[in-house]
Amino acid sequence: MSLRKPDIGFIPTPPAMVKAMLDLAEVQASDVVYDLGCGDGRIVIAAATQFGCRGVGIDIDPVRIETARTTAATKHVADQLQFYVADLYETDFRAATVVILYLLPHLNLRLLPQLRQQLQPGARIISRDFDMGDWQPERSLICTADDEEATLYRWTIA
Ligand SMILES: C[S@@+](CC[C@H](N)C(=O)[O-])C[C@H]1O[C@@H](n2cnc3c(N)ncnc32)[C@H](O)[C@@H]1O
Repeated sequence: MSLRKPDIGFIPTPPAMVKAMLDLAEVQASDVVYDLGCGDGRIVIAAATQFGCRGVGIDIDPVRIETARTTAATKHVADQLQFYVADLYETDFRAATVVILYLLPHLNLRLLPQLRQQLQPGARIISRDFDMGDWQPERSLICTADDEEATLYRWTIA
């Protein structure tokens, strides 16, 4: 499959911050967690191992998706997870009950109409570092992990 260049490169979120993002989303075993731009899959793999939920990771970089699939198998959560090489802007994520984002401000805003169109009431969106312009988050917090500090934002679809 030939896809265009990534909109942002791979910058991994440290494990303690991943946990904080999943806690902010109040992930339950019944959730389906999507990471749009999943990199090595660490966030949905953590969701599956720590909360027992299902998850889907989407990344435009096939090398990252290969790594994610290998790690998921090593950690015995491959049956709970699916990974796809795809452009997140051309992805159907209607099944998500939680969406995780670590993109850029203009990429969040470009995605916003799709989030509002596709997600069901009660779905939570968690974004690392970047907000959604005029759409005020219901919660935000500052998280520090491995010498990195980030603001984490949460919205819930009404
Ligand atoms: C900042 S990294 C975040 C990785 C992971 N979510 C984390 O927090 O550890 C962004 C990821 O988005 C992917 N990406 C960039 N543009 C994309 C697009 N249009 N569709 C799908 N993935 C994309 C990159 O390949 C990269 O792995």
